[in-house]
Amino acid sequence: MNAGILGMGRYLPDKVVTNADLEKIMDTSDEWIRTRTGIEERRIADDHVDTSDMAYEAASQAIKEAGISGEDIDLILVATVTPDQPFPSVACMIQEKLGAMRAAAMDISAACAGFMYAMVTAQQFINNGVYKHVLIVGVEKLSKITDWEDRNTAVLFGDGAGAAVMGPVSDGRGILSFDLGADGTGGKHLYQKEKIVMNGREVFKFAVRQMGESCINVLNKAGLKKEDVDFLIPHQANIRIMESARERLELPVEKMSKTVHKYGNNSAASIPIAMIEEKEAGRIKDDDLLVMVGFGGGLTWGAIALRWGR
Ligand code: UT7
Repeated sequence: MNAGILGMGRYLPDKVVTNADLEKIMDTSDEWIRTRTGIEERRIADDHVDTSDMAYEAASQAIKEAGISGEDIDLILVATVTPDQPFPSVACMIQEKLGAMRAAAMDISAACAGFMYAMVTAQQFINNGVYKHVLIVGVEKLSKITDWEDRNTAVLFGDGAGAAVMGPVSDGRGILSFDLGADGTGGKHLYQKEKIVMNGREVFKFAVRQMGESCINVLNKAGLKKEDVDFLIPHQANIRIMESARERLELPVEKMSKTVHKYGNNSAASIPIAMIEEKEAGRIKDDDLLVMVGFGGGLTWGAIALRWGR
């Protein structure tokens, strides 16, 4: 069995916070944020909307698009570092509302690489025939752990959710190869101590090196070449980091998806949200080769080469 994507969904809060809004509450400038990160605005969830609410919205859309019902789901995996609480998991919290009472459920903590970890975990159960439908969600309410006094981090993040139903797809389609990894020695560069703490320069250096390496790794593992890539879907952390991955793959600008300017860094949600936007714009076609790549706190990383289509 080859594991691929059967349906997708996303949720973004309505509230837009622009760089100009941030200029009013901290010592920063639209110019600095734009040139250093590519971010122009981000979405911030209302106080009463928590991670599980956003996860549910994205998940129900994905289930609908997949043409299945909650009862068909065998496993729910939610990638997040901002669960409503340590337990029960967000996966368990959304299970009942989705009517997925047959499903096993758990959260995955791999920060911004979380959606890659969730996809690869789902793939194992689908490939060996144990499960048919795995719901995966990447969701973050980063605004609740953002230190609004720290301009080094506060300008970067946004809230949102992206989901996919994964299941068996036709031969030659779905996940062709993956590359997952972690380096706990770098954990000190990006972590949560009540609020987010980050050594931006160290994370930047790691990200530039690792994003490119991981993309090349998945191509090599799948026996593919850079020229075969139709779309690069990088974690939307910083346009300069994303550009470095694109250059490593020698892809033209229009072959890299970009949402960072309007949503900022949505951590585990950024890759599925970017993928959905390309799909809705009609830019991803059946049999296109997509390379997805993410990195984040842990440190963690993950890339996937996926042939689009059911
Ligand atoms: O999902 C993974 C999450 N993390 C990341 O992706 C972060 C990776 N790192 C980055 O994206 C970049 O390192 C940043 C965008 C965070 C920072 O960009 P940088 O080019 O590495 O800047 P820097 O940290 O070297 O700071 C340059 C200057 C500093 O001033 P001095 O010391 O040179 O006077 C900072 O204090 O920019 C200052 N600065 C700011 N100025 C205005 C830092 N943040 C801001 C700000 N507004 N928001």
